[in-house]
Amino acid sequence: MLVSAKEMLDKAKAGHYAVGQFNINNLEWTKAILLTAQENNSPVILGVSEGAGKYMAGYKTVVGMVNGMLEELNITVPVALHLDHGSYEACYKCIDAGFSSVMFDGSHYPIEENVAKTKELVKVCNEKGLSLEAEVGAIGGEEDGVVGMGECADPEECKAIADLGVSMLAAGIGNIHGKYPENWAGLSFETLDAIQKLTGDMPLVLHGGTGIPDEMIKKAISLGVAKINVNTECQIVFAEATRKYIEEGKDLVGKGFDPRKVLAPGFEAIKAKVKEKMEIFGSIDKA
Ligand code: 13P
Repeated sequence: MLVSAKEMLDKAKAGHYAVGQFNINNLEWTKAILLTAQENNSPVILGVSEGAGKYMAGYKTVVGMVNGMLEELNITVPVALHLDHGSYEACYKCIDAGFSSVMFDGSHYPIEENVAKTKELVKVCNEKGLSLEAEVGAIGGEEDGVVGMGECADPEECKAIADLGVSMLAAGIGNIHGKYPENWAGLSFETLDAIQKLTGDMPLVLHGGTGIPDEMIKKAISLGVAKINVNTECQIVFAEATRKYIEEGKDLVGKGFDPRKVLAPGFEAIKAKVKEKMEIFGSIDKA
């Protein structure tokens, strides 16, 4: 059964480790992440962007697929199905479809509007037992056509949103979605420290997990980050493994064209990457 992300993140914050949010794109992705979480006795969050939801034939299809896998694959570790960077409308759609967690990304609204909309969603999510992630300060990079510049959030604004009773808070600290540019200045630990001081026990979320050096990840966890989102890195290893299979001409040998064979190396590559991240985040055996 899907669970809200609240309990797993409160435990992670108190225990000084982080739970990974791995974004899903299809059946292979979902199965690879769920099996890896189970094998490593780790809690996990499956992230679904609006674009990925549309690609996978809608939120209800995603809920059906994930619930089916939890049962058929005997997944017993805590799993949350979470809308990633949702609009106000998408949050309601996912709540209705059976997600166990949503992110309302109101970071592009003026703070008053972000507060008002987040407040309303806190009420709805509390009533239905879902966890809610809010965002302050846009995360840089491009995701689903939305480009942000990697802002640093205002700690006072973070406190205003945290005080509304959200379950977790994403705050921009110079992080960027996708690959980091050569001249990236790194995470702003000064901002993170100031945010944690004002928001106390609130689990903080680090977006743009791809390409952040391990030492920075560990420091961020020590300063209150309890959820780390990874998407691009799984896409890169999946594409690399698939390209190798084709370049080696394996699809041309015997029944090598069978999609189950074509997609197998990419599936294994995602499993290895997710395990590597769970080790760095410290979530293994924390289920
Ligand atoms: P990356 O694609 O950079 O790993 O970021 C993922 C993310 O933050 C999803 O919200």
